[in-house]
Amino acid sequence: MEQANSKGQWGSKFGFLMAAVGSAVGLGNLWGFPYKMGKSGGFAFLLIYLILVVLVGVVIMLAELALGRKTGKGVIYAYRSVSKKYTWVGWLGWLSPLLILGFYCMLGGYCIKYSVANIGDLFHASWGIGDADPAKYFGAFTSNMGQTCLFTLIFTILTIIIVNGGVSGGIEKFTTVAMPALFFMLLIVIIRSCTMPGAGAGLSFVFKPNFEVFKGTGWISVLATAGGQMFFSLSLGMGIMVTYGSYLKKDDNLEQSALLIPFFDTLIAVMAAMATMPATFASGLDPAAGPGMLFITLQTVFNAMGAVGPIFGFLFYFLVFIAAITSSISLLEAVGSTILDMKEGSGITRTKATLIAGIVVLIEGLFISCDGLGANGFPQIFGQGCWLDSFDLVSEGIMMPLGSLVCAIIFGWLKKGYVEEEVKLSSEFKMKGFFDFCMKFIVPIAMVLVLLGQLDGFFG
Ligand code: PFF
Repeated sequence: MEQANSKGQWGSKFGFLMAAVGSAVGLGNLWGFPYKMGKSGGFAFLLIYLILVVLVGVVIMLAELALGRKTGKGVIYAYRSVSKKYTWVGWLGWLSPLLILGFYCMLGGYCIKYSVANIGDLFHASWGIGDADPAKYFGAFTSNMGQTCLFTLIFTILTIIIVNGGVSGGIEKFTTVAMPALFFMLLIVIIRSCTMPGAGAGLSFVFKPNFEVFKGTGWISVLATAGGQMFFSLSLGMGIMVTYGSYLKKDDNLEQSALLIPFFDTLIAVMAAMATMPATFASGLDPAAGPGMLFITLQTVFNAMGAVGPIFGFLFYFLVFIAAITSSISLLEAVGSTILDMKEGSGITRTKATLIAGIVVLIEGLFISCDGLGANGFPQIFGQGCWLDSFDLVSEGIMMPLGSLVCAIIFGWLKKGYVEEEVKLSSEFKMKGFFDFCMKFIVPIAMVLVLLGQLDGFFG
């Protein structure tokens, strides 16, 4: 079987699928999706999200996997191989994971802290969260620079260690165990959440048609939120799927992967909503509480469960931690893989490339941690409440949709047939008609609307 590059290759189809689903399923699903849904009208958000996944997510996913496999390169060199003119698109896709990884490692660190604190609660109130008010506990932790930096450091080091293990030995081995484990842990939390008295209201919020939020121009903001969320959640528009695609064999079915990865990612996002919303409603808490939902609202729910609360709390935060680390390794791999491309022939090793990328990310993560979610008095950027939001807005809100808009213009209009040629090496390309239509028309229109919605929020 032909191998596109010498940086590594997946050991099995299942291994690749788990690694790609592991990249997609992360904080975006377990944290971002439920809280954004809570703020954007429940069912209405779900509906727009699903439409976007099918019409935009699947199509961009296929294009990115095909680009990666065809060129065998990380994102910058992959776009450069298509044409030198497009190198800048690759740079956009390389900078996004760098921007994201800093705050991602900080949030991953929060998950470690909350896993440890819930274990502490099992033994003695003073070792964990105890009777403290969850909002105050969260505020005290996030503004404590020493603590947040320590947990960011631990999370980043774990990410570096796994990526350094290589494609099939590190990433694939870890995700093949972690992803099925995550699925079962989530099921347990869903069962607990849905059996709480009053949980039905949460399920109705998610699944019962209600379009209140669409009134006036409300639909544009729901579309922009759902659009940004979709890119982030599917790991699109930032070179990850290009990089993971470059480790595929020529006979691996790209079409099937482009359907399965979004399917599993969306399934887990909806499951996360089913784990959080019923518990939130049953506890009389506000579903629109925003980003605090994961660490404040849910901790309140666990506190109210009595003696078993810390067990469910630990299970849940550990689950989020696992999901986060299978995503952070993909982000670091995408950055490091391109460094290997840049230095091809210089004899640079994977360890060195990973370390260079890891140190840059660590510095960024420590900076963002010191901001304490805006509580520590540092000057803020782009009018956002905290540095995390500023980095998130630029990457998820602007760079990813912009990169995907250009990707659609390139593969839908300028280089027609490029994706088809690669896909046909491993399948009949049954979705060709659908792909061509969406890539040409739907993706560009949807991306322009998403960008307008983001810019509106940016300047508004
Ligand atoms: N998709 C991951 C999530 O939903 O949390 C995060 C992520 C991973 C974003 C990889 C971007 C990325 F390239």
